[in-house]
Amino acid sequence: MDQKRSSFTGKIGFVLAAAGSAVGLGNIWRFPYLAAKYGGGIFLLVYIILAVTFGFALMAAEIAIGRKTGLSAIGAFKKLDRRFAFVGYLAALIPAIILPYYSVIGGWVMKYIAGFGTGQAHVMAGDKYFSEYLKIVGEPLVWFLLFIGLTSLIVMLGVEKGIEKVSKVMMPILVVLILGISIYTIVAMPGAVDGVLYYITPDFSKFSVMTVVAAMGQLFYSMSLAMGIMITFGSYMKKDISIEKSIHQIEIFDTGVAFLAGLMIIPAVFAFSGGNEEALGKGPTLMFVTLPKVFDTMPGGNIIGAVFFIMVFFAALTSSISLMETIVSILQDKLRMKRIPASLAVLGFSLVLGGITCLGFNVLKDVKPLGLDDLLTFFDFISNSILMPIAAFFTAVLVGFVLKPEYLMDELDLGGKFKAKRLFSVMIKYIAPVFIVAILVSSILDAFGIVKM
Ligand code: PHE
Repeated sequence: MDQKRSSFTGKIGFVLAAAGSAVGLGNIWRFPYLAAKYGGGIFLLVYIILAVTFGFALMAAEIAIGRKTGLSAIGAFKKLDRRFAFVGYLAALIPAIILPYYSVIGGWVMKYIAGFGTGQAHVMAGDKYFSEYLKIVGEPLVWFLLFIGLTSLIVMLGVEKGIEKVSKVMMPILVVLILGISIYTIVAMPGAVDGVLYYITPDFSKFSVMTVVAAMGQLFYSMSLAMGIMITFGSYMKKDISIEKSIHQIEIFDTGVAFLAGLMIIPAVFAFSGGNEEALGKGPTLMFVTLPKVFDTMPGGNIIGAVFFIMVFFAALTSSISLMETIVSILQDKLRMKRIPASLAVLGFSLVLGGITCLGFNVLKDVKPLGLDDLLTFFDFISNSILMPIAAFFTAVLVGFVLKPEYLMDELDLGGKFKAKRLFSVMIKYIAPVFIVAILVSSILDAFGIVKM
């Protein structure tokens, strides 16, 4: 475990790698559907407040733990306090649950590249197109297989660097495209402006505990927190880089892309449906239902659609690689497995879980654990609303009470003075743990239908 760790070269290396992991389907697919469902502006507001306080503190803690110990999650927690070793294992379990269903959505994205690439925009814009597609047993499985296969191949061959280089070029193009599509929708489509207002104006009557539950789960997910990834990245980070500045850059970029993705999708929902509740509450399928309608009305929509989904594909791929990489490196460290067998083991496991997830929309559609809509929503819920808050809770308790926040201060001060000391201490010690427990209890009560939040 204590072999030499390679480190990121230069300042931008860490930020880019962390941003590559952070920006993905979470921003483009997940954020807009949650914002649409949980009240628009009020969700956005809660999310941003959480990001700059809670998300900031947790990310600082994780990166500092990684850089101070030079270890990834399991080793780091064990080294800091043996009693907390289980948190490392828990953190490692989370990417293993996410990767399979993440790849199912990656498969949907590939399907859409093929669809627009072959000039099907008009067909795909049909109301029932996507729900009918999900009912097919074979095809979604094949696309899922391609996505997870590609991710595994890249991890096995160890060519992540090459992909990162490509995505460095793709990400700015993606941002420009998202912006362009938003402007097009708002300018050209009647009713879209109402969507913009819904999205940016907080309506406090729409606030509920579930708004906060959803926003917090999204925060973990989007910033790749509470699953050991930032600890691992921290362990690769050079000592002369400011953790605080890096976090600001990652947060601005990650939240910025999510915000723009919402601006692209929510006004379009309003333009096509007048913003009725059913359309806003579509859930995981929202992006796949709404965007084809937009592309269908655009001149050159097939080409723009294909290019857009290619960019989304690369953003998803850098994230799925970082998910898989985390699990593989844990298997390598802990079970002394070699890279290829470890990757194959993760692939095998993902094929089973992801395959089941695909079937959850057809053959297994009556299996609704916790009353959730489908198996994808179930895996998403277990990881984001249950396991991540638990991992984050113990991280906060470890740093806040066992080690004390001061323990990480010298690390946080390296490479530039850490200005948010008070915010960090208060968040980690008092607010985060209390808050997380409250959220966890509410989401469990809600899931079991005991109290509707
Ligand atoms: N943050 C990524 C996204 O928003 C998902 C992800 C989670 C990636 C955890 C790696 C680890 O798409």
